[in-house]
Amino acid sequence: MNNSKQTNPSVTLHEASSQYQSNTHKIKWLAKTIVTLTVSLFLFSCGSKQVENNEEEVFVSELLDKMTLEEKIGQLHQITSQWNMTGPAPEYAQGHEERLKSGLVGSMLNVIGAEATLNAQKLVVENSRLGIPLIFGYDVIHGYRTMFPVPLGEAASWDPEVVKLSASIAALESAAAGLHWTFAPMMDVGRDARWGRVMEGAGEDPYLASILSAARVRGFQGENLADQKTIAACAKHFAGYAFAESGKDYNNVDISNATLHNVILPPFKASTAAGAATYMNSFNTIQGLPASSNEYIQRQLLKGDWGFDGFVVSDWNSIGEMVAHGAARDLKEAANMAINAGSDMDMEGNAYTNFLAELVEESKVDIKIIDDAVKRVLTVKYRLGLFEDPYKYSNKEWEKNTLYSLGNKSAARKVARESIVLLKNEENKLPISKSIKSIAVVGPLADDKDAPLGNWRADAVANSAVSVLEGIKARAGKDVTINYAKGCDLVTSERNFAGEIKFNTTDRTGFAAAVAAAKKSEIVLLAIGEDCFQSGEGRSQADIRLKGLQMELFDAIYAVNPNIVIVLMNGRPVAIPELDAKAPAILETWFLGSEAGHAIADVVFGDHNPSGKLPMTFPRSNGQIPIYYNAMNTGRPGPKNEVFWSHYTDQSNAPLYPFGYGLSYTDFKYDNLAVDSSDPSAIQVSVTLQNTGAVTGTEVAQLYIRDQFASLVRPIKELKGFQKVTLKSGESKNLTFTLTEKELGFYDNEGNYKVEDGMFDVMVGTNSTDLLTETFLLTAEVVQ
Ligand code: NOJ
Repeated sequence: MNNSKQTNPSVTLHEASSQYQSNTHKIKWLAKTIVTLTVSLFLFSCGSKQVENNEEEVFVSELLDKMTLEEKIGQLHQITSQWNMTGPAPEYAQGHEERLKSGLVGSMLNVIGAEATLNAQKLVVENSRLGIPLIFGYDVIHGYRTMFPVPLGEAASWDPEVVKLSASIAALESAAAGLHWTFAPMMDVGRDARWGRVMEGAGEDPYLASILSAARVRGFQGENLADQKTIAACAKHFAGYAFAESGKDYNNVDISNATLHNVILPPFKASTAAGAATYMNSFNTIQGLPASSNEYIQRQLLKGDWGFDGFVVSDWNSIGEMVAHGAARDLKEAANMAINAGSDMDMEGNAYTNFLAELVEESKVDIKIIDDAVKRVLTVKYRLGLFEDPYKYSNKEWEKNTLYSLGNKSAARKVARESIVLLKNEENKLPISKSIKSIAVVGPLADDKDAPLGNWRADAVANSAVSVLEGIKARAGKDVTINYAKGCDLVTSERNFAGEIKFNTTDRTGFAAAVAAAKKSEIVLLAIGEDCFQSGEGRSQADIRLKGLQMELFDAIYAVNPNIVIVLMNGRPVAIPELDAKAPAILETWFLGSEAGHAIADVVFGDHNPSGKLPMTFPRSNGQIPIYYNAMNTGRPGPKNEVFWSHYTDQSNAPLYPFGYGLSYTDFKYDNLAVDSSDPSAIQVSVTLQNTGAVTGTEVAQLYIRDQFASLVRPIKELKGFQKVTLKSGESKNLTFTLTEKELGFYDNEGNYKVEDGMFDVMVGTNSTDLLTETFLLTAEVVQ
């Protein structure tokens, strides 16, 4: 359609003006009609929402009225299947079937597949007195059968649409396999690369994590939970889990209230606003209290201030673990504390099923508390449409047609490409020259078809990913010779979700072949990094350097052919200063999922220009951890020519790669940063971004602020906006950002939000270090 304006020379000025008036009249009429229609539609939809809500409430209340105390407690009891355990195996397993048949179980986890879910559901619906369906939950963290990049990798896309797409396909496949509910997204803001679960989150920044977690919730849940293609999300782990001391999983967390509110809670709040149907609490203590017994965050904040009307599930026996923490005398006391604090469902703890009835009889737990928890569980089941048709998700035909479809795989490839970060590219080594004739593909991960699936791989088929070698071969075509050699194994142990890992530190027998392959090739792609089970739950590491013989292999290859592109696979930031010093090019590819090899080839050959940016700082060494860009300044920030400032005497303070960092095959220039603070309620920031390189590229322009002084010390930088922009070679664009109260304030230690007047820095640029800076004064007018 041609939108260009056409002038009609035969129309006189008068005619034009009356035509204009009549048009204006029409436009006004149209606008009025639209407004009226919109308002009526809005009122109608509010009305129909209200009717729906009323129906839901009436249904749930009537059902609740029919339930015995035992049946109510059953709804708060979640058990795992015995064939797929994602936590320490429970000692009991007897009587599961009887309990299910009697309606004394509300939910199962780890039951997957249309057939298994159908059978379990039938057991309950057809045998129990009230036939209340189970809700089936599973850890669908980055895909169900078709694997997408690990969430930390996806976060490198800085793209909510990309993350939403990934979650929506994970939901589609899960729903087709009979599932109703995923234990995701994990939105723990993590600053410690030693903690294995940073792989499951969106990185170190609360602003980025809020946007991406909310997008993930929308992806899982779609517009309507009852839609057969969606599943319920679970915001986890509430709260503070990633702040485990020394990065050791399950360790204690001791942070200020201000850190809780400013850093940890924002993604949770954003996800609640996005409609997250459920929450999971966390294993850790926080300020001396296990999260499962934390009334302040669960009742006061979540269910009170934030208006959350879904339910909170405990983490795996986190209620029982309150005894080991030393917070409860025994399991009964743990149950008492947890239910009163707002933990609605007990995952694999057996605390509620064993003790809640007694606690009610002893008047330690008010029946109203039980009723509220049960209502919440029933409400989510109602919203999923389970009372209409408890079997609707369990359809074998649909499952067969949906899992691992071509469309799902092509989406996985797209998301994988967007997640790759170009860390180094000296002399434009990448993309590979079109005239290349020989490529060595080497390294322990080069032909690994399993590692790219990552750790939380749901129902992925082992060894089903496209390896780097396969991807490169498929793209290179027959005129390019590919010389493959593994070089060495990374691990000697079997890959196992629950097992310990043993690294190969002795077997160098493959080195010679790898060196020979490198020698006879123009360029070497060296695929190294972490084993896929090196990161994830229970996978903390004291040392985040590359393990085993990998650095030795690099040195051996570098000695014969320094033309090396490192293809890094990992689920956490790794310390690779030696690689950075020597290798001319480094690609961060995380664990990219089913289509990893194809996505990597897309970037290596320049079919896709990388635009990923790091969602977490990469340290130079273990000793720098925790290192994060949004730190406080200290009273002695330096640098100085003497020793008395905040630094290490044996290493720079600077990270190896800062938060937000990532290169492109083109260059971008930022210019003309300007701030207009004339309206203090909407500060306008503008900047010109130009693609000064030779090819089209996509840049993530990042905006940071610094509140120079405040009643609580504020970080030296805080991300408060970003825009992902694609520009052709030579093209430029004026970008504008608006800063309001929402971006300029902070929470104090009492949990009160404040916006204080004073001087602010505003910084815009390509990562958290290379920035243009301007300053503005925020006047008292916006301070309430
Ligand atoms: C424990 C993990 O912490 C949690 O994230 C997961 O959802 C549950 N196990 C269930 O597998």
